[in-house]
Amino acid sequence: MIRSVIKATGAYLPKKILTNQDLEKMVETSDDWIFQRSGIKARHIAADDETTADLAIHAGRMALKNSGLAPEDIDGVIVATTTPDQTFPAVAVKVQAALGISPGLAFDVQAVCTGFVYALSVADNFIVRGQAARILVIGAEKMSSIIDWSDRTTCVLFADGAGAVILEADKGQGGNADRGILSTHLYANGNQAGLLHTDGGPSSTGRSGHIVMQGREVFKYAVQYMADVVNEALASAGIDAAALDWLVPHQANIRIIEATAKKLGMGMDKVIVTVERHGNTSAASIPLALHEAVSDGRIKKGDLILLEAMGGGLTWGAALLRF
Ligand code: ACO
Repeated sequence: MIRSVIKATGAYLPKKILTNQDLEKMVETSDDWIFQRSGIKARHIAADDETTADLAIHAGRMALKNSGLAPEDIDGVIVATTTPDQTFPAVAVKVQAALGISPGLAFDVQAVCTGFVYALSVADNFIVRGQAARILVIGAEKMSSIIDWSDRTTCVLFADGAGAVILEADKGQGGNADRGILSTHLYANGNQAGLLHTDGGPSSTGRSGHIVMQGREVFKYAVQYMADVVNEALASAGIDAAALDWLVPHQANIRIIEATAKKLGMGMDKVIVTVERHGNTSAASIPLALHEAVSDGRIKKGDLILLEAMGGGLTWGAALLRF
């Protein structure tokens, strides 16, 4: 059977770093409050003239370079983002053009912080059905562009960045020993859309709007949904958490990450954590964390990895893969 294997990763973080101390000068908050509640110390913020596509292109270019492939070897580009440069065209077509990738499928996926898991799953389905052999999958966000910088309940959490992977078709035996994506699990509950949303959009206000969040409610569902979907992924493979080499969670809040690890009985030494330095980069957070752990040698070829995320929608999901 065909499996989608991660051939290479890439990432990009904007140069500007905004610390909790910087935020203390902007809103009524403190380093202590932010760190205690979220685990965040600093985050990267894109320059005014730097767009989501710019971030995505940097990350995609790095993944392409690390893969040793040529642009014409790539059959498609899928970008997970909630903060596109324009309503259309998609960020993905900008990446395709900038990297010299030949015409093929290119589109964006919008599932907020779960976006990368959704995009990975979509790309996996194209590959498994034989419709594409290699897809560049990117999570890229300029969350700073939809933050209300006077709202201390949200502006201390979100940030900018991009991460990328190249998925490539490979032959597998159909078991857990195969390299590549073993299963994906996607969910949404639209009845909970009001808990985390923007107060605008093209067809309503004509503006993109700003993030509005009921943090405490989102926190509660995040812990529950994450545990549910992670257990479903493990059950589908007939394994328990002890079989995992790494958990690469969406980096929203260290308390949510720790709660999920605890429910799995996993030590934090097996969890990739970047939230302290990256903040919540929405769809970019998982591929950013993945790239970091691959680059520093923690994640190795053959490791069994679980990705999990939860975000606006509410949406949530997980992907089990062997690197
Ligand atoms: N600095 C200081 N005080 C603050 C700040 C701040 N930045 N923000 C809020 N407060 C105050 C509140 O006003 C409140 O004060 P009050 O008690 O006088 O009313 C108090 O701190 C406690 O506020 P809570 O919102 O109850 O704090 P909580 O412990 O729930 O932490 C947080 C807030 C960090 C947002 C938490 O609820 C959380 O992480 N929720 C999940 C959010 C999340 O993960 N969102 C992303 C999902 S992914 C996506 O799709 C984008």
